[in-house]
Amino acid sequence: MRAVSVALLTSLAALLSTQVVEVRCLDMVIDNDFSSNSVTPLFPALANANVSLLAVTSVTGNTWNAQSVGHLRRYLQAVGTANNSDSQRAAQVKAVSGANRALVRTPDSYEADAALTGRLRFAGAYRPFNATAEAEGADPSGDLQNNARVTLQGQERPGPLSGALQESANLYAPNFLVEKSREARAKNATFSIAAIGPLTNLALAQAQDPEFPKGVELWYQGGYLGTGLEAVLSVINSDYYVDLNTAIDPEAAKAVLRAPYARIVCVADFTSKIIASNDTLSRAAALSDSASDDQRYLARQISDPVEVGLPAWDDIGVALPIYPELITKSIKVRLDVDARAGGPAYGKAFAWLDDLAPSGLQEVEFPLSINETRFFEIYVSAAQAFINPK
Ligand SMILES: *[C@@H]1O[C@H](CO)[C@@H](O)[C@H](O)[C@H]1NC(C)=O
Ligand SMILES: *[C@@H]1O[C@H](CO)[C@@H](O)[C@H](O)[C@H]1NC(C)=O
Ligand SMILES: *[C@@H]1O[C@H](CO)[C@@H](O)[C@H](O)[C@H]1NC(C)=O
Ligand SMILES: *[C@@H]1O[C@H](CO)[C@@H](O)[C@H](O)[C@H]1NC(C)=O
Ligand SMILES: *[C@@H]1O[C@H](CO)[C@@H](O)[C@H](O)[C@H]1NC(C)=O
Ligand SMILES: *[C@@H]1O[C@H](CO)[C@@H](O)[C@H](O)[C@H]1NC(C)=O
Repeated sequence: MRAVSVALLTSLAALLSTQVVEVRCLDMVIDNDFSSNSVTPLFPALANANVSLLAVTSVTGNTWNAQSVGHLRRYLQAVGTANNSDSQRAAQVKAVSGANRALVRTPDSYEADAALTGRLRFAGAYRPFNATAEAEGADPSGDLQNNARVTLQGQERPGPLSGALQESANLYAPNFLVEKSREARAKNATFSIAAIGPLTNLALAQAQDPEFPKGVELWYQGGYLGTGLEAVLSVINSDYYVDLNTAIDPEAAKAVLRAPYARIVCVADFTSKIIASNDTLSRAAALSDSASDDQRYLARQISDPVEVGLPAWDDIGVALPIYPELITKSIKVRLDVDARAGGPAYGKAFAWLDDLAPSGLQEVEFPLSINETRFFEIYVSAAQAFINPK
């Protein structure tokens, strides 16, 4: 009897296992400098059940890390409240605090170098401290010594932490990334990082564990090559074509882009030309009559942004590792970043074809275009999964 039932169970198990549908599962981390209205890059990763979002990590860039991780927690709380599977998955995502400052560059060195290096139209955390703006809730800038201050007010403030947010509250992004790379390498696998902010956390992870890059496919929103001409064609271009992520932490960018990652893709210049139409934004932000306060809050991130008309830089940076088939044209280059302070090339990227490149540079995939129609379809449906969930 017993032997028969074991045989029966075994064949049942075999039958069940062959019927399990093969699902492509992408292990992924999003690393970003969150500021106001930066929830949308989370949507494509959260809305796709094939993505296992291991964590979202925070870093200094547009503002200081402490404020950035505050924004991130609020965004994750807002997406985790609906009663459906997307929302339940989102509620499991860790928010991990990272580097408080760049490796070398500071607000003071930015100011001190400006006569030689030039200025950024938007300098993120390096903008001068403005007490009035911060009292009104603006993202902190300047005053490096007090970089842990958080100015989030009203609906922008995260509620008390619970669940995954509470459990991840004491993790540190470089340590977390090192651990995930170790786990991946132990399985002869990799995980993807959509690095859509400065590369400080990755540089610190590499310094801790030189093997770290080998477990990571890096998708970096930076490494612009066309900034010289583009940035002087109009005032708007002088804001859109600066490669801010590289400029905030040039030393980290140089170290990371020279390290032996399993793959490096720079999601750069072309993204500055891709801007959602008003129709796309309205469709992404459409609410039902019975929308909750959190859904209305998420919709306003799109329909009532602090700054209108910005390119979809970070949204593309997250979508491409999930939907690489969006890429319609791409070249391969050897890429480097100039990290010599005190000159106009400080924080700028340069590239060569293989046979002409200086030694020691990694091969970088450099997309030149994507299917924008398809990208915005994904953008709208991913936003709607949380703003107007079914
Ligand atoms: C998940 O992966 C499966 C198998 O590759 C695919 O058929 C499905 O379309 C994917 N789902 C999404 C939302 O991309
Ligand atoms: C959540 O959804 C399930 C099924 O979709 C339903 O049975 C349950 O009552 C819902 N819970 C709440 C709190 O709305
Ligand atoms: C400081 O912020 C206030 C309020 O946003 C603004 O009106 C003022 O122009 C800012 N000051 C400087 C020097 O940028
Ligand atoms: C590890 O993966 C690579 C590439 O996928 C493969 O060529 C190699 O044989 C694998 N090694 C082991 C030990 O599984
Ligand atoms: C899109 O909306 C913005 C802000 O609401 C407005 O300034 C702009 O004129 C609109 N563009 C078009 C083409 O209607
Ligand atoms: C781009 O995406 C659209 C919408 O999904 C599709 O209809 C079109 O065929 C795609 N274009 C190319 C060149 O693949």
